[in-house]
Parts: sequence; structure tokens; C-alpha cells
Amino acid sequence: MEKAASNRFDVDSELRESLLPECRLKFGEVWEDPSGAHKVGCIDAADSSMVSGFMSGKKAKLALHDPPYNLVVFDRLGKADFINWCEKWIRNTSSVMDEDSSLYVWLGADQNDGFQPLPDFMIMMRGLDEFKPRSFITMRNQRGYGTQKNWMSVRQELLYYIKGNPDFHVQYTDIPKILRGYYKNIGGKLTENIERGKSENIRPGNVWVDIQQVFYKMRENVPGCYAQKPLKSSDRIVAASSNQGDIVIDFFAHSGSTMLSCERMGRKCFTADIDPIFCEISIRRLERFRKTGLAGWQNEDPFKREC
Ligand SMILES: C[S@@+](CC[C@H](N)C(=O)[O-])C[C@H]1O[C@@H](n2cnc3c(N)ncnc32)[C@H](O)[C@@H]1O
Repeated sequence: MEKAASNRFDVDSELRESLLPECRLKFGEVWEDPSGAHKVGCIDAADSSMVSGFMSGKKAKLALHDPPYNLVVFDRLGKADFINWCEKWIRNTSSVMDEDSSLYVWLGADQNDGFQPLPDFMIMMRGLDEFKPRSFITMRNQRGYGTQKNWMSVRQELLYYIKGNPDFHVQYTDIPKILRGYYKNIGGKLTENIERGKSENIRPGNVWVDIQQVFYKMRENVPGCYAQKPLKSSDRIVAASSNQGDIVIDFFAHSGSTMLSCERMGRKCFTADIDPIFCEISIRRLERFRKTGLAGWQNEDPFKREC
């Protein structure tokens, strides 16, 4: 299979000009799902009035955010400004979260640049009393960088915070338990770990090694989206930290992975992106899933006109 020749929708200005007229939303507008389940807003996550208008008084049980943290953003903003910007959308998120709710944030740690921005972000979060840190998760990527004179960087960092006392549902991987012989005395009876466990598979714990990074041969791939997270990761988070019918927010939609997980698991997703092209992609991905059951375009162009 040939790799799709699609360019990045965010940086190819000629491509952007040709796609913008095909986008339903302009900056400031909101798409309401005709089925009443989800919403997509073309808004700035750092703008408090846009966020409160978008949520219209509704509160989320789960916030799952994947902000841009690449070098382009650093170059443009500078590190301190980047953290100030993060604090704005975190405060906006907090204001629309339920009193018992969960917050997950994907964030990188660049080993070529002081491990930025992760440590500064963590310190900023310490200053916000309403959030309690719960877990520091690492997901292992298959591809990495810096392989010749250093350990290949293959990690994706995921921070998990809570407000109040939200539900948490234990998740399992597809990896069978193989380590036996860990005995414990339960009520006077010596039991083995496999016997004690609720599943024959292991839990993901806080190091996720069982999730395939999205690439062009995968059905869920969305060509043109440069930072797509695997559905398996958003499925896991949504399943662990929300219940049927809950509102889940993701203010950095991009390819719309969180909304698709919510669709598949009966949650309501209020998702947003500042870029009309990514809002359109997210809506199209949901519509395509509903029509065909397919989770992405694999190697096809999401903007290809139907004949
Ligand atoms: C890293 S990507 C998110 C990837 C997403 N989790 C997925 O699986 O497809 C970040 C997205 O944030 C959007 N973005 C950047 N600044 C924003 C802002 N101020 N408000 C809302 N969205 C923003 C970008 O357009 C980009 O699509």
C-alpha cells in the first residue's frame, strides 16, 4: 500500500485555502449534532467567554485534552508564555467541570530542550487547589526520535488529575497474565494471584505498552492530521473515567478521536478546535462512522468528493 500524499492541513497554506470553503464552521460557530449527542465548536480554548458560551451551563464529568506542544508553538510563544496559555485553558476547563470529575492532559517532554514543557506544566498545576494529581501515565510509541546517540524517545506523557471524588472503572489490556505464584493469605486461605484477579488479563497500569501508534495503514488513520491519538487510548480513558450519558469535553479535537470514542460508548462529547478544518474533519469522521462503521479514512483523503 502506498503512503497517502496528503499534506498537513495546518501548515500547507495552498491546501488550507482550498479546504476552508468546504468547512461548515467559521471561527466562533458551533455544530450541533442532529442526534443531540455531541457538539463541535470552532473556538479558542483559552477564551473564557467562548468556552462558557459553548458549554451553555452544562458540566463535564471528564475532560480529555491534547494541546499542541510542538516546537512551532514554543518558537512562537516562548516557554513561559506557553505555560501561561495552558493555565488559561485549564482554568476555563475547570470552570465547566463537575464537582466530581476527571482531567487528563497529554503533554510532551522534549529531551532535546530541558524536557519541556512537562515539568513547568506540572508545577503550574500544583498552584490550582481544585485539582489533585492521581497518575502520571506513559504510553509507548512505536516510532521515536534521537536513536543514534541516545535512547530512542518513544514516550507520550499523560497526566491524570481529579476534582472531588469521581468514579474510576478499572481497565484491562488484551495481554494475558503469565506470572503465577504470587500467593496471599485471604481469610485464612492461601490464594494465588490468578485466582484472586478479576480478569485473566493484566491491567495497563501507568505504563501503556499495548497501544499501537496511528499510522497510514490503520483504518482509523486520518490523513492530514499530524497528531492523531489512537482510539484505543481515548476508549480506555473514556471507559475508566466516565459513565453512559456523561458529558466529556476535549477542547483540542484535531481528528475527533475523543468524540468517536464517546459515540461508540454512549457518552456526549463537547469538543472544540480553533481551526475550522479540524472541526470539519471531526464532524466528517463522526458522520462517516455512523454511515459506514469505519473509524477513519486509512489512506484516503477525508475531503475527497463523493462521486
Ligand atoms: C495535538 S492536536 C490534538 C490531537 C487529538 N487528540 C487527536 O487525537 O486527533 C492539537 C489541536 O489543538 C488545536 N488548537 C491549537 N490551539 C487551540 C486553541 N487555542 N483552542 C482550541 N484548539 C486549539 C489545533 O488546531 C490541533 O488540531
